[in-house]
Amino acid sequence: MPLSVIQSTGFGTFYSRINRRKGLPDPVADILKPYLRDNYTTQDKNRGATNDPVAIDRSVCMDELIQKEIEGGKIKTIFNAGCGFCTRYWRLGIDKLDIEWVECDYTNVLRCKLDAYRGCNIKIPKNYIFMSSDLQKSCIPVGFDLCIAEGLFVWLEKSFVINNIHQKTIFDVIGIKRTTVIGKEQKWLFDENEDVWSNVNFDLIQRVGPESREHRVIIATPK
Ligand SMILES: C[S@@+](CC[C@H](N)C(=O)[O-])C[C@H]1O[C@@H](n2cnc3c(N)ncnc32)[C@H](O)[C@@H]1O
Repeated sequence: MPLSVIQSTGFGTFYSRINRRKGLPDPVADILKPYLRDNYTTQDKNRGATNDPVAIDRSVCMDELIQKEIEGGKIKTIFNAGCGFCTRYWRLGIDKLDIEWVECDYTNVLRCKLDAYRGCNIKIPKNYIFMSSDLQKSCIPVGFDLCIAEGLFVWLEKSFVINNIHQKTIFDVIGIKRTTVIGKEQKWLFDENEDVWSNVNFDLIQRVGPESREHRVIIATPK
């Protein structure tokens, strides 16, 4: 089944990370790139930006923040919501750690990702788990030590986001100053002053880049 517009946004972030080469080395992404290009994205007109500076800045920022969390040694379970074609599991060396890493995305996306892993002979270690779900409808991450959501929350209803921060969660947002809308599927823009955020503690981390004032990474915990 072809990927929908939202589902194929993962290609844009994936290619941006490879094309711009900032941050941690990403050898698994290098291996996957030709497979995804040849088998999927050559027919995909909606694969989004492939050289997006915001996407790469937020990936670098989130890698740093997650690595810091992991270094404490207390994190044993991580939920990667809306994982797309993200290869952070390999970039952060989770295959060598005693951490359970659960990735969640639509069935279509995970089918494509697993096909790419198989097609490139990349073995999936036991601590790397896949769970297909429409997050908006059925799966709520609860009971993990850390949840990460890169490039995801803008596509979900704000009420969903607010009601579903059940553990420390690292995610990115687009602020209210942004004037362009990413297609009709974009659901909300972030306003830290709204009282809907009164149930959540958060630290805002502003990033450099052309949209830095509007695009931020947040670490949130439930109150
Ligand atoms: C912009 S991409 C980011 C992918 C990945 N996190 C990365 O940084 O490369 C957004 C991802 O969120 C997924 N997504 C959006 N809405 C979702 C939902 N309701 N349930 C599950 N996944 C969803 C899309 O399929 C897509 O893979």
